[in-house]
Amino acid sequence: MTTSADSVFVARSDGISAEGVRDQYADGKAAKVWEIFIGDKNSRTDNYKNFLIDMLRNKGCKRVLDVACGTGVDSLMLVEEGFEVVSVDASDKMLKYALKERWARRKEAVFDKWVIEEANWLTLYDDIQEHIQDGFDAVICLGNSFAHLMDGFGDQREHKQAIGNFEKCLKPGGVLLIDHRNYDNILETGATPAKSIYYNTSHTADIKTSVLFYCGKPSLVSMDYLIAGNKLTSEFRLSYYPHELKRFQEILAEIFSAKAKHQLYGDFKEMSQVKNPAFYIHLIEKPQA
Ligand SMILES: C[S@@+](CC[C@H](N)C(=O)[O-])C[C@H]1O[C@@H](n2cnc3c(N)ncnc32)[C@H](O)[C@@H]1O
Repeated sequence: MTTSADSVFVARSDGISAEGVRDQYADGKAAKVWEIFIGDKNSRTDNYKNFLIDMLRNKGCKRVLDVACGTGVDSLMLVEEGFEVVSVDASDKMLKYALKERWARRKEAVFDKWVIEEANWLTLYDDIQEHIQDGFDAVICLGNSFAHLMDGFGDQREHKQAIGNFEKCLKPGGVLLIDHRNYDNILETGATPAKSIYYNTSHTADIKTSVLFYCGKPSLVSMDYLIAGNKLTSEFRLSYYPHELKRFQEILAEIFSAKAKHQLYGDFKEMSQVKNPAFYIHLIEKPQA
């Protein structure tokens, strides 16, 4: 029997779950408005250009695995910038948009090489073994995606299993870039900022936040989104495990080893430049063997 908070609270919108993972995007509602929600792609891209691309280039990365590609927004930018990208996601409803883009631009050589697959973090290493080769230079898991993975057993073993798989997909010296919202702040205030470095929409975006404590522990944060614009209105619920910063850092150190280089950023800035960021971004390097 699982002890998940998810078992006492309906965390997902209606939809048919993909085998092996509870696909919160299965009803297609979030997928349909995702690009409206994230807002102007170019301004999102500018944020990344100042950080992600420079960081990947400075580290000499060429092959990148995007483990939560969703509709493909981050992967697409990396492909356009000349990186060799393998993109995976558990939701076929989200992947559909990435696949459409790839198909439309398949005559461009870099798009022809773009690999897009369905995969689940819990079985990732096996799911994509044929693409791993000597390991990726970088694995990215961005957009508050990792927090979708709940704690089904109450001891975070699935979080460790997933991060363990990300680590296994990296070559020695490769880097994992993984983010999560500032849940310490969400737990303190009970509210989620609707706009942030990732979500820049000019359309109405309202996020109603609920926090569920299970057996005395904050176990689940549900966000009810209302997105309105372009004659489209969409309401959907997404649920997250509230990763607290200190604990998340401990898990990274446990999986990558205490000697692994770890750098923390807030909203893509050095921590000294940002107070109470909306997102924490971790950069952790797999030690050389
Ligand atoms: C918030 S979307 C982010 C997509 C994209 N990175 C962005 O920022 O726009 C989160 C994605 O994580 C995927 N996801 C959630 N749990 C997963 C799992 N266990 N394995 C693989 N993908 C998962 C979802 O299907 C979804 O497409």
